[in-house]
Amino acid sequence: MSAAPAVERKKVTLQTLQAKKERGEPITMLTAYDYATASAVDRAGVDAILVGDSLGMVVLGYATTLPVTMDEMLHHCRAVARGAQRAHLIGDMPFMSYQAEPAEAVRNAGRFLKEAGMEAVKLEGGRDVADTIRAIVAAGIPVMGHLGLTPQSIHKLGGFRTQAKSAVAAQRLVEDACILEEAGCYGLVLEAIPDRVAELISRRLCIPTIGIGAGAGCDGQVLVIHDMLGMFDRFTPKFVKRYANLQGEMQRALAEYVAEVQSRSFPAAEHSSAMSDDDYTALLAALEPAPRAD
Ligand code: KIV
Repeated sequence: MSAAPAVERKKVTLQTLQAKKERGEPITMLTAYDYATASAVDRAGVDAILVGDSLGMVVLGYATTLPVTMDEMLHHCRAVARGAQRAHLIGDMPFMSYQAEPAEAVRNAGRFLKEAGMEAVKLEGGRDVADTIRAIVAAGIPVMGHLGLTPQSIHKLGGFRTQAKSAVAAQRLVEDACILEEAGCYGLVLEAIPDRVAELISRRLCIPTIGIGAGAGCDGQVLVIHDMLGMFDRFTPKFVKRYANLQGEMQRALAEYVAEVQSRSFPAAEHSSAMSDDDYTALLAALEPAPRAD
């Protein structure tokens, strides 16, 4: 088996991501929601880990991301922060943690950094959330924006479908991207939009764009880890590439475990702890005779 390539261990910061954009080097980002996955992603040399509110669907089994709470997000962020040393860490602000009041948004954003080890927050929306972004950034908290298919607006959008396909809708999206940059975002997720529109935005903005279902013209790419590893099979968006089939591998391993326990071939001697003959004989001698089973 070939050894994994050596990975640069220097901490990734906002400045690292910006420098990558300026050098034209693609930025890598993945989601993670727990300690073990975060350490695997970190060791693989991924630049940024997003603790996405997608955890509501792929980890907690909700139909949408809407029910996810601040407490659920902070719980998973803490686990990820314990598992990752190098990657830049972004916590996703859940539905209704930032929409009502900028002051509440600042307090909630602060909790990701103060209580959960994150280094930035992400939130969804365009011009409507620009003032909120300004307030969070003014508090010293880096903000990543998210445009295009914004799952927290699923009922407004009418489903998980590609956005900004018409010239009018695309123009509004380009304007939104410029507004978010001006409001202080240090990066922008572009989800499920035509590749040409994403490329145009990526060229126009100074800050990095991270695409998901937005083509190869973005400055970086992100995927939901459960989708790309084939762990979540309720549905797979068209833009996902599956790099593994872990759900299939889990099913195979679990069936083998069930069969081995049923046939008593697991546990074998190497999975058990032995006791010396002398100690066992002494134990039997010390015990009362066992009561008869009948
Ligand atoms: O919640 C999430 O995982 C996301 C990504 C799809 C960008 O927002």
